[in-house]
Amino acid sequence: MEIIIQPTVEAASTIAAQMVARLLREKPDAVLGLATGSTPLLLYHELVQMKLDWSRVTAFNLDEYVGLAPDHPASYHRFMWENLFNRVNILESNVHIPDGLTEDIPGFCLRYEQQILAAGGIDLQLLGIGTDGHIGFNEPTSSLASRTRIKTLTQQTRAHNARFFGGETAVPHHVITMGTGTIMEARQVLLMAFGPDKARALAEAVEGPITSMNPASILQLHPVAKIVLDEPAASRLRKADYYRWVYDNKPDWQKL
Ligand code: GLP
Repeated sequence: MEIIIQPTVEAASTIAAQMVARLLREKPDAVLGLATGSTPLLLYHELVQMKLDWSRVTAFNLDEYVGLAPDHPASYHRFMWENLFNRVNILESNVHIPDGLTEDIPGFCLRYEQQILAAGGIDLQLLGIGTDGHIGFNEPTSSLASRTRIKTLTQQTRAHNARFFGGETAVPHHVITMGTGTIMEARQVLLMAFGPDKARALAEAVEGPITSMNPASILQLHPVAKIVLDEPAASRLRKADYYRWVYDNKPDWQKL
């Protein structure tokens, strides 16, 4: 894992945007795995400002709430179109987001996995992290080999996401999410975490044991996982000084 600690959310988002931009320049037909939530908002804003060419890019989103129509204000469809897809030149036919209204969830999930494979696999998967260590919506005790499927949210996650629904009671109980096994097949993974609420889950994921109690900890087994943090999210890392030293002393050929 490469741990990159930055003073602010802005600085961290700029580094993440540079990583995505580099991929799109080197591989114009890249396949991106995309995330929602507050964490990637500034990253998406920066990517829009960069005016990159998205005409050959394919995107697969991590997850969606079951039962939400694409135009629901809290749906991840709406989030992605408002914050990124409507603002770049991506083709609608290249956008894939789990369908929260599908009447055949297992069939849909199987097809989603097949579509990822048919696209050549995901080049770069963006991730946030839940306060309980979830990635996508793979809650604690999710199989670390899981594929795209239905999941039931924990109360902690429903409470954390209540702000998007105007209250906890309106938050759906079920979601469709890529599995941790699906995420681990991406060629590169870029996880971002900001703010003190993420510090504990992040430290356990990076420096604790690999365990389904913290699904993000599976990323310790990923060959190319980059973790971009602001200082508050990094505040519980025991080896933070070492990560800073490594980043500040990278060989020139390894720098962005
Ligand atoms: C959500 C999403 C995740 C996201 C995480 C953190 O529930 N399913 O993909 O990374 O929880 O959200 P936020 O970035 O708003 O803190």
